[in-house]
Amino acid sequence: IADVKGGPNEGLDRVGQTVVVMGWVRTLRLQSSVTFMEVNDGSCLSNMQCVLNPEAEGYDQVISWNFTGASVCVQGTIVESQGSKQKVELKVNKIVLVGQSDPSYPMQKKRATREFLRTKAHLRPRTNTFSAVARVRNALAYATHKFFQENGFVWVSSPIITASDCEGAGEQFCVTTLSNECYYASAVMTIILFQDFFGKPAFLTVSGQLNAETYATALSDVYTFGPTFRAENSNTSRHLAEFWMIEPELAFADLNDDMACATAYLQYVVRHILENCKEDMEFFNTWIEKGIIDRLTDVAEKEFVQLTYTDAVELLLKTNKKFEFPVAWGCDLQSEHERYITEEAFGGCPVIIRDYPKEIKAFYMRQNDDGKTVAAMDLLVPRIGELVGGSQREERLGYLEYRLEELKLNKESYWWYLDLRRYGSVPHAGFGVGFERLVQFATGLENIRDTIPFPRSPGSAEF
Ligand code: 4AD
Ligand code: MG
Repeated sequence: IADVKGGPNEGLDRVGQTVVVMGWVRTLRLQSSVTFMEVNDGSCLSNMQCVLNPEAEGYDQVISWNFTGASVCVQGTIVESQGSKQKVELKVNKIVLVGQSDPSYPMQKKRATREFLRTKAHLRPRTNTFSAVARVRNALAYATHKFFQENGFVWVSSPIITASDCEGAGEQFCVTTLSNECYYASAVMTIILFQDFFGKPAFLTVSGQLNAETYATALSDVYTFGPTFRAENSNTSRHLAEFWMIEPELAFADLNDDMACATAYLQYVVRHILENCKEDMEFFNTWIEKGIIDRLTDVAEKEFVQLTYTDAVELLLKTNKKFEFPVAWGCDLQSEHERYITEEAFGGCPVIIRDYPKEIKAFYMRQNDDGKTVAAMDLLVPRIGELVGGSQREERLGYLEYRLEELKLNKESYWWYLDLRRYGSVPHAGFGVGFERLVQFATGLENIRDTIPFPRSPGSAEF
């Protein structure tokens, strides 16, 4: 359907051609002499309006299976449409019912809530919203690879099963083998069982960063793009237990290079969807978040704001706004603070905050000369708050060892990570983009659970 209707004159150049459309029936309107059937194949938002006269081959079947949701194969001629909704329609010569749909089909025309659709994750891609999200998500993934490939980065596959906790926050899921014993086992027993398999406790990765660093200190600029997992019990509209992360790692680079790369990346992918997903973006602009196209256009064109953590705290202390979590130097910025900064203080412009207190950041971040802060940065955007988190890495062996000890982390288990500082260490930096938060930002969706086909959150792992 996109092939026919996606051109500049919405299919008028195809008038007179014979085409075959294969898709799913959205609606069927039987009238005495003619039947209108809207068919969608997921290639774009537009349906193909199929006009069936009694002479069409297979017409009798249509009368008898008057149900939406069925799959069909329709052959016909493209003609100019009489209706105002579309430029062209399909005058059907032949229709074949491929798969009948039961009358209980839950995706009927009436508008269902997104909460309801989450309980129908296997069928929701057949709705306008979720098919548009799937296409924009795909375009963002494509643009991500395109950006890094065009800039000389090498894509590295980081492992999903790992023994190390990159963020040191203890939010990992354990990996066990499936046997009756372990299925019913207590936590203690489970550890014994999975130690057998890998020789030590193993977990689902929370971040591919440490592995990416090993490749960056050999291939220079690399990136990962894969699933990551966090067992944080935060039932919010911006947390998932399973999410995808894009993690570039730049060798011979400092925090300024890192921030410049994150900015260029975000602007590139936003521009890509504005240019290549026009129909879907118009849909989000009308139905999901009014004005999102203008806001994204600004993001793609305007400079981002930069300020230090210390300045951000000062700004929060100066405002009259009441926050649920009090602000003081040293506190972790909460989503309400992040949103105030980007939405209110800087009018919707993305903001990069840098140089956070070392106490609230991970062990691997490079200590600044003041001894109190680290070369970390978070990129904040309206509605979401933190979209990107990154830092310059501590490349000095002594400092890194000291930090591991200070945090009482098991130094021995980081032996390979420390080796990178022992053999040809270089200043390097990187960041992580939460891919679902990016999709959320780009589509205007309120809940992150609607940005990934099969969301995983506390108490929910169906499908
Ligand atoms: O800030 P985070 O924890 O940073 C890291 O994991 C670094 N190792 C990245 C790096 O420097 N290579 O996570 C990075 C981003 C966040 O900014 C957020 O967008 C996303 O990952 N994120 C989540 N997205 C969805 N659900 C969750 N539970 C998320 N936790 C983090
Ligand atoms: Mg973070």
